[in-house]
Amino acid sequence: MKRIIIYYSLTDNTKNAAERLAGLLSADLCRIDTVKPMPSDKGKQMIIGGMKAVFGMRPEIKGVPLNIASYDEIIVGTPVWAGKNAPAVNTLLKNKQIREKVTAVFTLSGGGDNDKCVARLRKMLPNLKHTAALADRNHESACHNEDILCALAKEIENG
Ligand SMILES: Cc1cc2nc3c(=O)[nH]c(=O)nc-3n(C[C@H](O)[C@H](O)[C@H](O)COP(=O)(O)O)c2cc1C
Repeated sequence: MKRIIIYYSLTDNTKNAAERLAGLLSADLCRIDTVKPMPSDKGKQMIIGGMKAVFGMRPEIKGVPLNIASYDEIIVGTPVWAGKNAPAVNTLLKNKQIREKVTAVFTLSGGGDNDKCVARLRKMLPNLKHTAALADRNHESACHNEDILCALAKEIENG
């Protein structure tokens, strides 16, 4: 089974989770990013990122591997923005061939909007089987991230 984890991460929480999961599954790893960088100012990030997420925008992205069609299974990681997935992931999932191969998602949130975000992703992903809700490193629940990732890896391996 050839697997790849594709993720977007602004402040590296999703990146850390993606790297850990890739290690557990011996999967390939790919970070996508927007072509137009996000502002470095935290306040502007919240306003611009939040607006783009609310309106379901699809910014131009870079980083999707050219050989994406060669993978059997795709796992997607995203931070929660305004209760939704990050806009870069909207662009990724616009591609039907990618959408149909996504069997698992993991989301990172700062306070607990993972369920809302996963519910939205579920509507887009016809073959979604496994989900995992993780917490930002500054949240008290972050101490459970490792256990949740290990459980997700086992679920994915068992199909
Ligand atoms: C634009 C923006 C919107 C956010 N909206 C939410 C939200 O609705 N709910 C929440 O729990 N956290 C929210 N957060 C916090 C992130 O989900 C959280 O910090 C996450 O761990 C970031 O992942 P990253 O480090 O991979 O970018 C938001 C962060 C940003 C930048």
